[in-house]
Amino acid sequence: MAIRNFLDIWQLEASELREMLDLAHAMKSARKGWPKGRVDEGAPLDGHILAMIFEKSSTRTRTSFDVGIRQLGGTSIVLNSADMQLGRGESIGDTARVLSRYVDMVMIRANDHSDVEDFADAASVPVINGLTDRSHPCQIMADLMTLEESGLDLKGARLAWVGDGNNVCSSFIHAAPKFGFTLAVGTPDRYAPDDDDIEIARELQGRVELYSNAEDAVAGADVVIADTFVSMGDTDADERLEELEPFAVTEELMDLAQPGAKFLHCLPAHRGEEVDSEVIDGPSSLVFDEAENRLHAQKAIMRWCLDK
Ligand code: CP
Ligand code: NVA
Repeated sequence: MAIRNFLDIWQLEASELREMLDLAHAMKSARKGWPKGRVDEGAPLDGHILAMIFEKSSTRTRTSFDVGIRQLGGTSIVLNSADMQLGRGESIGDTARVLSRYVDMVMIRANDHSDVEDFADAASVPVINGLTDRSHPCQIMADLMTLEESGLDLKGARLAWVGDGNNVCSSFIHAAPKFGFTLAVGTPDRYAPDDDDIEIARELQGRVELYSNAEDAVAGADVVIADTFVSMGDTDADERLEELEPFAVTEELMDLAQPGAKFLHCLPAHRGEEVDSEVIDGPSSLVFDEAENRLHAQKAIMRWCLDK
């Protein structure tokens, strides 16, 4: 069997993604009320080791993958790239070949997306993208799981992304054709999503609409999604905060969406910048379910990667 990498949502079949979300929902409900350290029935990844490499900071990804592999019966090793020979110039390819001899699966959070692709090319074990400058596919699986839990049928739903057309936005664009929702993206022209991502979605018959203001994107949406205006690695914070300010999610902006529309944010959030406290701490917000579901969605991703 070919190695199963989870690098980007557009590379997977819609049926595989659907099976992952179904498994995530089932695993979550099967362990309702259990202590978080108890191993799932059948310990599906018993004996397996996950290595995690971090070139950037993380709270959710690090913890949810670590807890997730333990709940599946496996163990993990967390590696900060600065402490590795990688930080002193050892090649990505050699690092991948060496780690493949020790562990069963690797998750990487990297500055440069091409490093994750190069790592996967050289590795002989599955590789999972834990965020790059280009995408954040694990996050979107958790987000879509959360929306389904809230009762939303993704097929035909209208999701609005407002703010920076960044890595998280790209993964939503990749997911639109796979799950059948419409994605309306409102960004300043300068921070619009990459043309490559739009092309990928359109080739797959995805419905992605681009707007240069937040109001048109949010009008009639079932879900409004925000993320930081300044991502890890961005060096133009002042310009971004100024230009993106009109794209902040306020209660007034939420009022343009469908009544009862939900709010998502992958966290970490900056209250008073990309979202007002009244929204993120209000009744429409699903952000902590979203954070929890990183755990359940990634358990399904890991099981898919190892076909277990
Ligand atoms: N949403 C997310 O990926 O969070 P961390 O950066 O804390 O992992
Ligand atoms: N867009 C953000 C997401 C953080 C989880 C970043 O890349 O910093």
